[in-house]
Amino acid sequence: MNIQGSVIMITGASSGIGAATARAAFAAGARLVLLARREDRITELAEELGNALAVRCDVTDRDQAEDTYGRVDVLVNNAGQGLEAAIEDIAIEDFRDILDLNLVAPLIMMQAVLPLMRAQGAGAIINVSSGVTFYPRPHSVAYNSAKAGLNMLSAVARAELADQGIAVSTMLPFVTATEFTDALKAGSEAARAEPAAAVAHTPERVADRILDLIRSGDERADLVPQRFGGSLAA
Ligand SMILES: NC(=O)c1ccc[n+]([C@@H]2O[C@H](COP(=O)([O-])OP(=O)(O)OC[C@H]3O[C@@H](n4cnc5c(N)ncnc54)[C@H](OP(=O)(O)O)[C@@H]3O)[C@@H](O)[C@H]2O)c1
Repeated sequence: MNIQGSVIMITGASSGIGAATARAAFAAGARLVLLARREDRITELAEELGNALAVRCDVTDRDQAEDTYGRVDVLVNNAGQGLEAAIEDIAIEDFRDILDLNLVAPLIMMQAVLPLMRAQGAGAIINVSSGVTFYPRPHSVAYNSAKAGLNMLSAVARAELADQGIAVSTMLPFVTATEFTDALKAGSEAARAEPAAAVAHTPERVADRILDLIRSGDERADLVPQRFGGSLAA
């Protein structure tokens, strides 16, 4: 997909990887549709970029997510949240919320844009999963399960949509310096103490790989060090 002149919709554009992807895509000539719940943040980013539309949206709310936005060439399903807790301590409602946001919402968003992409005969969808799905990290069962499900959702969608000119790709970032740890549904303090947190990537680095995926339509990209099962040489 050629980024220059394309319309790219990014969920979770109010901070971190989503905001960095918006800035990188704008620099590459895209027009942006920015989605998140914190309207002040996305409005400010839209003003900074000049050529962007800010839409307040809770992506877990089907009615809000299914509004149409005219043309959409690329969807970056980036909104997400983690939860850090031992299996026996997880509140079931929290577990469901994490599945809803990280697994069900990407499907809702895909269903919202697919009719447009099919009518256009082309499209790219990037699902932002996590490198944590490369290994069963203790205290991460809600988030890991949701993102592992997203990996399969993304792979099945890729197989299903390939003959319609729609490329579905999966991005697997490693630990990234964003608001993610502070925004965990539970367990932020324990997560901050993780040794891996000391080697965090910048959100700009992840954004660059997301742009690569948009351009190439490749199946997946990861920024996970080899010692954690990924492809990144130390
Ligand atoms: N940071 C990491 O170490 C890391 C590693 C691997 C993968 N990831 C993945 O990367 C993606 C981006 O995370 P990040 O690191 O950039 O974290 P972040 O800075 O906390 O950003 C998360 C984004 O998701 C949005 N969001 C959360 N709930 C939402 C909802 N119900 N509806 C709409 N938007 C919602 C937030 O916006 P509002 O609060 O304004 O709605 C925010 O813009 C996530 O999918 C995350 O799982 C992160």
